[in-house]
Amino acid sequence: MQQRPLGRTGRDVSAIGLGTWQLGADWGDVSEADAEAVLEASVARGVTLFDTADVYGDGRSESIIGRFLAARPELDITVATKMGRRMEQEPENYVPANFRAWTDRSRRNLGVDTLDLVQLHCPPTAVIEDAAVYDALDALVDDGAISAYGVSVETCDQALAAIARPNVTNVQIIFNPFRLKPLDAVLPAAAVAGVSIFARVPLASGLLSGKYSAATTFSSDDHRSYNRHGEAFDRGETFSGVDYDLGLQAVQRLTAVLPEGVTLPAATLAWIAAQTGVTSAIPGARSVAQAESNADAAALIADGSLEAFDEAVHRVYDELLRDEIHPHW
Ligand SMILES: NC(=O)c1ccc[n+]([C@@H]2O[C@H](COP(=O)([O-])OP(=O)(O)OC[C@H]3O[C@@H](n4cnc5c(N)ncnc54)[C@H](OP(=O)(O)O)[C@@H]3O)[C@@H](O)[C@H]2O)c1
Repeated sequence: MQQRPLGRTGRDVSAIGLGTWQLGADWGDVSEADAEAVLEASVARGVTLFDTADVYGDGRSESIIGRFLAARPELDITVATKMGRRMEQEPENYVPANFRAWTDRSRRNLGVDTLDLVQLHCPPTAVIEDAAVYDALDALVDDGAISAYGVSVETCDQALAAIARPNVTNVQIIFNPFRLKPLDAVLPAAAVAGVSIFARVPLASGLLSGKYSAATTFSSDDHRSYNRHGEAFDRGETFSGVDYDLGLQAVQRLTAVLPEGVTLPAATLAWIAAQTGVTSAIPGARSVAQAESNADAAALIADGSLEAFDEAVHRVYDELLRDEIHPHW
């Protein structure tokens, strides 16, 4: 597994990490034993980055990771958590006292004195543009509560605002074959600034696994049932904001150009991780088989087999998706 610098922290993280929203809630039931097996399988394949958040299962994802790592002190894993979604999304809630309380809770959940990396969890634009917020985050670094901080964002404009701040380590943004706008300005700006990009929702919530059909259903506690139109949070977080049936058409066209023996999720993850400016793609996994095949996709990053796929990604986006997606995020 390729390891890459995490901003200017001096740490390296794997080109394919692990998203652990699934190990908290909102994706149907994942038992604690299954969650631990997913973490174990990922680490065995060279994954050194876990992405989590204080709200995933109200701390369940963080706590499972904390227990897993406490039992394996020999591992050198970077845990990137997130904060800010335990309160109403009002700029006045993003103040030092709340930052302190949120990070203290994550430190307890993860069982550490210092958090490796804390990302603001898709806050309002006014927060991303507020210098006082970054002063408060710098103070947490100075106090040793956190080692580094970043910003998870919805839009490219928000990403560019965060990248412009001097001490931001990473920006997390949706980037996948259904979401190409970050290629225009965000990835180049991040590369110049030395800011890491984490590509989240890399499989468009599983649509880019190629395993769903028009007949597929999701359980009622799965956001792919209850957030298709943004009922609970930004609709872009579910299927990347792509209409489900249109997504199935796009998947069919991408599948047609896969190299022999390569699956759609593997090609997708390797394609994402190969883009200049991307530090890590962070797919979520609900099973050991998913975790293993996602980590193994790293072998395709530089093997030269994805030229036709790359061409198809751009063509399919331009023909089917650009008009719907580009103006929104
Ligand atoms: N606001 C934010 O900051 C934010 C928002 C969203 C996500 N995230 C982070 O980004 C991570 C990744 O995004 P995501 O989990 O939403 O979406 P994703 O990674 O695009 O999709 C995950 C889903 O894809 C399917 N899948 C994964 N690997 C597969 C494989 N090898 N073969 C077949 N299917 C596979 C699984 O679907 P099934 O469940 O159907 O098996 C899995 O639940 C999250 O876990 C979280 O850490 C952050």
